[in-house]
Amino acid sequence: MLFGSFSWALLSSLVTKTVANGSGGCWTNNCTDPIELVPAPWTLHGTGWAIPLPAALSLPEKTYSPLERQQGSKATAGLYTGIFGAIQMIRYTDTPVGPYDEFVLIPGAFTYSGPYLGLPQTDLRVSRMYVSQKYTCYNGRANWNIPKHLASFNWTDNADGSTTLKLYPHDTTGDESEAYPADKPFFQAIIYPDVSPDLSVNFSSPLIPEGVPVRLNQAPLPSGSGSYGELPGTETWGNTVLALQDTTPGVAMVDLDQGAGDAVAGEDVNAVGDEFYQNFWPTLGRWNAAVKLKDFTIIFNPAETWG
Ligand SMILES: *[C@@H]1O[C@H](CO)[C@@H](O)[C@H](O)[C@H]1NC(C)=O
Ligand SMILES: *[C@@H]1O[C@H](CO)[C@@H](O)[C@H](O)[C@H]1NC(C)=O
Ligand SMILES: *[C@@H]1O[C@H](CO)[C@@H](O)[C@H](O)[C@H]1NC(C)=O
Ligand SMILES: *[C@@H]1O[C@H](CO)[C@@H](O)[C@H](O)[C@H]1NC(C)=O
Repeated sequence: MLFGSFSWALLSSLVTKTVANGSGGCWTNNCTDPIELVPAPWTLHGTGWAIPLPAALSLPEKTYSPLERQQGSKATAGLYTGIFGAIQMIRYTDTPVGPYDEFVLIPGAFTYSGPYLGLPQTDLRVSRMYVSQKYTCYNGRANWNIPKHLASFNWTDNADGSTTLKLYPHDTTGDESEAYPADKPFFQAIIYPDVSPDLSVNFSSPLIPEGVPVRLNQAPLPSGSGSYGELPGTETWGNTVLALQDTTPGVAMVDLDQGAGDAVAGEDVNAVGDEFYQNFWPTLGRWNAAVKLKDFTIIFNPAETWG
């Protein structure tokens, strides 16, 4: 069901509140509260940056995490059809599972067999995602097939006003339990403050016009042996309608020089075979204009599932 029935939506919003309050507000990997399913819809608030990603001629290995790209996984199903994607860095301040940081790789659109007689459809897909805590990791996978894995996010404010993000995934060490972060960054970026004047534009609900839904299409995920039980698998395909609202957009410059990256000494790949590119992705240059969305709200509706 795309939007769910009224009573189901009402019930799930009540359940969401109960679970969120029941967890005592402790949302880090150290918290002992069990990971529970917090069903969609979710309303999230945060600030983020989106770097436009031109299509690659063919997708590199690093498009997917090692778990999702293993042989027999359905997570890579579908035909990559470009044309534009994004890399997003987001700091959520308020969600149904507390605050967390997120790194998103959307290589572009994929064409797949849809729910209606298997007719082909084309939508954007998140192929790889890192989050800073286990509660959102579990729920992103279970609710929307979003292939979240854990990472440690190190944000540093620099003297010149810029901010450096270094991302240390738990799944680039080769340890199948993904129990600890890598010691070299899989991704790094220096974000310079907003260069644009305050546009004072108010995108209101929904930014994405009605009747032209922006959807994510996500293939079934394999389950992993994450040390927190944060890597559930899924059986069905999922399409999710997104609504972005209430934000002040701006433009920021982002330096994507990866320095020495996380390549194993003497090789051009890291410990799990992710390729090294000096600017992270084959189609990106060092300096990138990014859309900054300050204090945005996004709604993740329940996924329409099939298969
Ligand atoms: C329960 O959660 C709601 C919304 O998430 C919040 O407004 C309320 O203060 C919370 N109550 C308690 C007792 O934590
Ligand atoms: C979790 O616990 C470890 C070890 O006690 C500590 O070093 C770390 O800072 C804690 N992390 C958080 C997010 O509280
Ligand atoms: C984060 O990066 C800064 C600057 O490189 C470093 O001093 C600090 O130790 C790092 N913090 C963690 C938790 O790794
Ligand atoms: C934008 O909308 C919010 C409420 O949605 C309002 O508080 C704010 O004043 C608006 N800003 C502008 C510039 O219109």
